Amino acid sequence: MIRPDEIKTQVREHYARRAAGGGCCADPAIAEACCGDAPTAEPLEGVFGPSLGCGTPLEYAQVRPGETVVDLGSGAGRETILAAKQAGTSGRAIGVDMTREMIQKARENAARNGAGNVEFLLGDIERMPLPDGTADVVISNCVINLLPDKAIAFREAYRVLKPGGRLVVADMVSNGPLPQVIREMAGAWAGCVAGAEDISTYLQFIRDAGFVEVETLASTSVPRGVVFSATISARRPAA
Ligand SMILES: C[S@@+](CC[C@H](N)C(=O)[O-])C[C@H]1O[C@@H](n2cnc3c(N)ncnc32)[C@H](O)[C@@H]1O
Repeated sequence: MIRPDEIKTQVREHYARRAAGGGCCADPAIAEACCGDAPTAEPLEGVFGPSLGCGTPLEYAQVRPGETVVDLGSGAGRETILAAKQAGTSGRAIGVDMTREMIQKARENAARNGAGNVEFLLGDIERMPLPDGTADVVISNCVINLLPDKAIAFREAYRVLKPGGRLVVADMVSNGPLPQVIREMAGAWAGCVAGAEDISTYLQFIRDAGFVEVETLASTSVPRGVVFSATISARRPAA
């Protein structure tokens, strides 16, 4: 049985390599489901590393000027920086990522794009270095599937949201549980395949964390046992 710490090590090493560049499916040795699908409406300049998302959560998040956005697993920082632009000078965006190389790349990208209202924190989204009630909006793109314990990440997202705050997550999920043989493949966890949770279980984790108005905004219809991308929104109750 693969241990949670082995999965984390594999994931961190994989994304440290990815930070150097090499698009989404650059490593043919690994089944990679997280493929660049980042919002393209607003071009960004400069260094940029890979876009490794599987949806466009920011498009659905409707960030308003003055809001604070937290991006879980921010990678090279593209969506965090776009969120900061939408939040304007009276708002801000914070990216959290556990891979030092990704944080460094994201900080370079922020500097290159003149984004002064954005910061990138090195940390695990299971224990975020942020106080309770920090954010109006939490977004995440193709990250929570990489966590052995997804329920913890949703409880953390709930904690850092203000009452009434919203969550928009794009992620790889599956139609029904995946075979155990796939779940045991560490490389397939890093490639956003093995950790894909059954969609019903995934939605229940979000509800169990305390969220309401849990809605699937975008997804595809696939046969049982197949992995797909879904975009889900939810809200922390106002009080
Ligand atoms: C598939 S990439 C997606 C990056 C970015 N959201 C995007 O769309 O390009 C996954 C990212 O999540 C980060 N990550 C994985 N597990 C994490 C954890 N437990 N805490 C913080 N970051 C994590 C990885 O380091 C990597 O940068």
